[in-house]
Amino acid sequence: MNVAILTASDSGYAGIREDISGKVIQEIVEQAGYEVVFSALLPDERSLLSKEMARIADEGIAQLILTTGGTGFSQRDCMPEATMDIAERAVPGIPEAMRAYSLRFTERAMLSRAVAVLRKQTLIVNLPGSPKAVRECLEYILPTLSHGLEILVGEAGNCAR
Ligand code: MTE
Repeated sequence: MNVAILTASDSGYAGIREDISGKVIQEIVEQAGYEVVFSALLPDERSLLSKEMARIADEGIAQLILTTGGTGFSQRDCMPEATMDIAERAVPGIPEAMRAYSLRFTERAMLSRAVAVLRKQTLIVNLPGSPKAVRECLEYILPTLSHGLEILVGEAGNCAR
């Protein structure tokens, strides 16, 4: 399975801050056997982010897009909106599970507005912005995502059958 990583950060894009979260995602998914085929650091621009996610899904570049950043309350945070803009089907259970699990680390986990959606044969999951939060969330959800991805691309049957 191929993975694309999208980091949304105005300060990272301007070169004011280093993009550590994207690298943390890369390290975790590669250790789990995924191949990272695309990685980009973009400003917190809704149309730019949604266009890039749609392109990756529509061209079949990656079966999993992991985003980091832009899920909070700041005026520029727009990753969930950008993701919903190009969603075909919602997957509420993934962010629900992430938030429920994350509450054991910080009650601020309830402030993440992350969403997960499907577009064609690609699953898109928003992760929070900090490297710590990325690690906590991704290590929890990743083992289960593989089953969903196998069903999504037709490599596994529907569990009910
Ligand atoms: N989830 C986990 N597992 N660990 C964390 O430290 N930080 C929270 C939350 N989710 C956090 C977390 C905080 S402080 C915020 S404001 C929101 O994610 C949104 O983060 P973002 O704006 O960087 O995306």
